[in-house]
Amino acid sequence: MNISNYIKQRQAQIETALQDSLPSGGTRPAILHEAMRYCVLNGGKRIRPVLVLAAAEPFGTPAAAALDAAVAIELFHCSTLVHDDLPCMDDDDLRRGMPTCHVKFGEANAVLTGDALMIHAFQMLAETGNTRLALELAQAAGSRGVIAGQVEDLAAEGQEPNAGLIEFIHINKTAILIRAAVRMGAIAGGAREDELENLGIFGEKIGLAFQIVDDVLDETSTEEVLGKPTGSDLKLRKMTYIAVHGMDAARARIKQLTTEAINALDMLQRETTALRSIAEYLVDREY
Ligand code: IPE
Ligand code: IPE
Ligand code: MG
Ligand code: MG
Ligand code: MG
Repeated sequence: MNISNYIKQRQAQIETALQDSLPSGGTRPAILHEAMRYCVLNGGKRIRPVLVLAAAEPFGTPAAAALDAAVAIELFHCSTLVHDDLPCMDDDDLRRGMPTCHVKFGEANAVLTGDALMIHAFQMLAETGNTRLALELAQAAGSRGVIAGQVEDLAAEGQEPNAGLIEFIHINKTAILIRAAVRMGAIAGGAREDELENLGIFGEKIGLAFQIVDDVLDETSTEEVLGKPTGSDLKLRKMTYIAVHGMDAARARIKQLTTEAINALDMLQRETTALRSIAEYLVDREY
């Protein structure tokens, strides 16, 4: 399977659906809707929505709900990025190669843009009529998920390295949403409970690997390639996987998690080549 073509094709489908899902930039208040479009339609990799579609496919022709779930999870993800970049959080001024939301539209509008994107995500899921999709995202996104991870990420700045803590932070701020992406695709496809279980393990493992790669790239890549500032974690004295375990252990763990993820996939008696190829592709990603 040519995975980069597969991803490109799904990305194009997602791009169109994202554009269609958002109110036009002229909708009052124009600054808000312009900011929402600016923060979503700006060249993200769309890994989470691609995973939603790839996890729906083993269960037959993807239902329309899978595309709605894909859009919703990307909208939610974009909302977390807008808030993550705020001066009171990571204080970053570049995202996806462009000035961050608060730099372009002001801090108050950035807070409200993040809020609006998050709510728009749940509205889309509610409109599918499948309450399990909204529940899955809510459980991943809330105070025992992404927001828990973000709170502890901030509290850990400048603290002594702590292996248990970095695991908690990375699982919650990042892996849980990637796990939700995979599970939401499978839910839209009509997967059985035991299948959701295995796909959840797959999602969490590749999600943790994804955040460790993000930590590695913050130290090893360039702003031009990444589209966001590098060295940001060191500057803020973030507790990254590298700060706790070192670069070699980080790279080894990425590989190990990917192997474990693929093993969980192999337990499914389904055609999961695309999910497997995405997992392998993410190990060597450069941005
Ligand atoms: C960045 O996510 C934030 C993390 C959780 C690591 P991505 O690397 O998926 O960012 P985009 O969506 O492609 O910009
Ligand atoms: C972001 O983690 C996690 C969420 C946005 C929930 P980072 O702070 O490491 O993400 P980047 O590096 O700014 O994209
Ligand atoms: Mg952060
Ligand atoms: Mg950040
Ligand atoms: Mg980072």
